[in-house]
Amino acid sequence: MAPDPRKFFAHRTSWNLEENRLSRALAERRTAGKPILDLVRSNPTECGFTYEQQSIQGAFEHGELLRYQPDPRGMRRARQAIAAYYLQQQARVDEDDLLLTSGTSEAYSFVFRLLCNPGDEVLIPSPSYPLFDFLADLCDVKLVRYWLLYDHGWQVDFSALTAAASERTRALIVVHPNNPTGHYTCEAEQKRLLHFCAERGIALIADEVFLDFSLSGSPENSFASGNDALTFTLSGISKICGMPQMKLAWIAVSGPAEQKRDALARLEVIADAYLSVGTPVQLAGPTLLAMRMSFHGQAMTRIRANLRELDEQLSRQSVCNRLSCGGGWSAVLRVPATQSDEDLAIALLTKAEVHLHPGHFYDFVQSGHLVVSLIVPEQELAEGIRRTLAHFS
Ligand SMILES: Cc1ncc(COP(=O)(O)O)c(C=O)c1O
Repeated sequence: MAPDPRKFFAHRTSWNLEENRLSRALAERRTAGKPILDLVRSNPTECGFTYEQQSIQGAFEHGELLRYQPDPRGMRRARQAIAAYYLQQQARVDEDDLLLTSGTSEAYSFVFRLLCNPGDEVLIPSPSYPLFDFLADLCDVKLVRYWLLYDHGWQVDFSALTAAASERTRALIVVHPNNPTGHYTCEAEQKRLLHFCAERGIALIADEVFLDFSLSGSPENSFASGNDALTFTLSGISKICGMPQMKLAWIAVSGPAEQKRDALARLEVIADAYLSVGTPVQLAGPTLLAMRMSFHGQAMTRIRANLRELDEQLSRQSVCNRLSCGGGWSAVLRVPATQSDEDLAIALLTKAEVHLHPGHFYDFVQSGHLVVSLIVPEQELAEGIRRTLAHFS
């Protein structure tokens, strides 16, 4: 007889692995070969962007490809290229304050491992991207949500944040800009959040994977060069260059000098235990980063065109609207809350053949939110939104 999985496997892996109703409905449609207008696609390599294939391949044809000289922080030349990237964002980051990882997700787990004992707490924004639960489980960290309020734009509810902090809080996560709300943490809020962390002796973790995709047209303030509290700024080429398959990301450490030095020394040991970033992508990293504007230009053109189309269609009716956003790759629609967001997403899929994400997927507490990806090809978005709005008319 097979052993009881609840006793055999670690408790941290006792996830509910059943598909949710929307995923089941999607799988059924796909198996039956029925059409789907997929408005949640966020994998840039599947959204019809043009990549300079030859130059990208050329970046990997490196004379040092066959040498293995591991550096737990990552190759210096790759870190130099990242420091140069920050300089262009008007943030001063020293190459010695950077540590490479294979992805932002791995960066989170390194930082959780650095900061938290089992059962310690990390404050996470809500609504936000549903990435943190699994990462936290894997590191035995307890997540505590702090709410973002929508009132003439998104803002941190500081009294809720204060109430959410406890003796066991070790860090506060900020997603800048947030996914899916697309709002940047304004300068005044940045200062307040850093002060909040410094005062309590906890760290700030800033997820800036979408930092570059601002609709304002000018660079947004990065957390990477602040010194007020120990800060771990995470990013990578997955979004910046539209290359999630390459697996190159980083942690930029900033803050009071002594804390920063200690954090880097310990992170180095964590990274040394895995040495997870491949030599080829580290060698190619500077070239890939130098090429990022080609993807960025295409992505911004599409995001702006999709937002224009969305707003144009929304202006012709009065039932649904869009929440304001400052950048990023998605938009949030407010729709009539006549049923749960999941039921609504299933109804849209089966009746209008449109796939949108229900708000609860991102922890929206109230029903009546749908999330649309802004990097899907323009014609698909236009048709998908037409059908979605027709569903409510
Ligand atoms: C806000 C946010 N952070 C991190 C990630 C993960 O990025 P990576 O591909 O670098 O692991 C994602 C992925 O979509 C994301 O949306």
